[in-house]
Amino acid sequence: MPIDIERARRDTPAASQILHFNNAGAALMPAPVLGAQLRHLRLEAETGGYEAAAAADERIEAIYDSIARLLNADRAEIALVENATVAWDMAFHSVGFAPGDRILVAEAEYASNHIACLQVARRSGAVIDVVPSDAAGELDVEALERMIDSRVKLIAITHVPTNGGLVNPAEAIGRIARAHGILYLLDACQSVGQLPIDVAAIGCDMLSATGRKYLRGPRGTGVLYVRRAILDRLEPPFLDLQAVTWVAPDRYEMRPDARRFENWERNVAAQLGLGSAVDYALGWGLADIAARVQTLAADLRRRLAEIPSVSVRDRGHRLCGIVTFTVEGKSPQDVVAALHRLHINCHASGPSSPLLVAPARRLPALVRASVHYYNTEDEAARFAAAVAVLA
Ligand SMILES: Cc1ncc(COP(=O)(O)O)c(C=O)c1O
Repeated sequence: MPIDIERARRDTPAASQILHFNNAGAALMPAPVLGAQLRHLRLEAETGGYEAAAAADERIEAIYDSIARLLNADRAEIALVENATVAWDMAFHSVGFAPGDRILVAEAEYASNHIACLQVARRSGAVIDVVPSDAAGELDVEALERMIDSRVKLIAITHVPTNGGLVNPAEAIGRIARAHGILYLLDACQSVGQLPIDVAAIGCDMLSATGRKYLRGPRGTGVLYVRRAILDRLEPPFLDLQAVTWVAPDRYEMRPDARRFENWERNVAAQLGLGSAVDYALGWGLADIAARVQTLAADLRRRLAEIPSVSVRDRGHRLCGIVTFTVEGKSPQDVVAALHRLHINCHASGPSSPLLVAPARRLPALVRASVHYYNTEDEAARFAAAVAVLA
C-alpha cells in the first residue's frame, strides 16, 4: 500500500519546519518514538530509575519481539546495545582469530569496522583480504567466490556503505558463506529501516544495526542479531553480570541467548524509543517504505543530474535512499553549510574507503542527501533548486 504521506508528516512535526535529507545521519523521530521516551523519562524522574524499569518490564521485553519481527529472527537472537559500532565489535571480537586466519572484507567498508580488523590482525596474526568491487562499485560476488579457501574465518561486509547509494548483494554473499560454512557478519547499519531485512533469506550469522538512522529511533541505540545455532561458537570479548550468571567462586554460566552480548546498565527510555520506532516502521511496512524511498531518491538523482555543474556520484546496480553528488568548484562542506542556512539538512561525507581503493577509483568527498518516506517530491524539487542556485 502506498505510504500515506500526509499522516507520516503529521507524525513528524519538524518536517514542516525543515527539509531533512539527513536520514542516513539521524532521521527525524516520529511523535510516538519521542512520546515513548518522554513518558519513560518522566516516570524515572517521578518514581526512580529502577522502579520505572520494573514498571516498564513488559514493554522492554516487547522490544526484542519487535526487532525479531523486523529481521525475521527469534527474540533469543537479539541483543540491545549502545550503537551499531558496539554491536558489530561485540560480534567481531567474539569470533576469535588465529595466525593465518583470513577475514574477507569489502572495499566500501565502514572505517571503524576496518580499524577493528587491523587491530585484530596485528594482535592475532589473522590476515585481512579485501574483496574487489565490480565495475558498478558493488562487491564482486564472483571474486569473493574465487577468494574462498579453508583459511577464511569470517566474511564481514557492509550492506549499504556510509557514503553511497549502492546496496551490496547481501543474499548472494550469504549463499557463498553458507555453502562453505564460513561465518558471515553483515553491517546493516544503513539498510535496516529503509529496506526489508530478512536474516534467514540473507543467510548471515550476525548483523548489526543502529536506531537513529533509517529506523527513525533515538541516538545511542544499537541492535545485534546473532543466529542461535552459532551462539556457543562465539566468546563475547567481555562479560558482565547481565551476560552471565556467577554460579560458583570460580565459575560463571553464560546466558543461553544473545543477551550475553549486552551489558546491564542501559538507557531504558532510549531503548523504549527504539522499540517504538521498530513498531512504527513495521506499521508502515518495510516493502512500502523501500518502494517510496527508492522512488524519491531516483527523483532527486534525476533532478540533480539536470544541473550542469552537479555530478551525481551514486554507483551500484541496486540503489537506495542515499543520494550523493558533488558541485563543481564547491567543497561538500560549503554546499552543506549554504543549504543549512536555508533550513535544509544534508551531510558532507569524506572520500570513500580512502585507504582500500586505488586512488584512480576513489570517490571524492561528497554531499550526501538521504531521503526517507516522509519526504516529498516537492522537497526534492526545492532541494535541487537550492543546489542549482549554489552551482
Ligand atoms: C555503514 C555503517 N556502519 C556502522 C556505522 C556506525 O553506526 P553507529 O554510529 O550507530 O555506531 C555507520 C555510521 O555512520 C555506518 O554508516
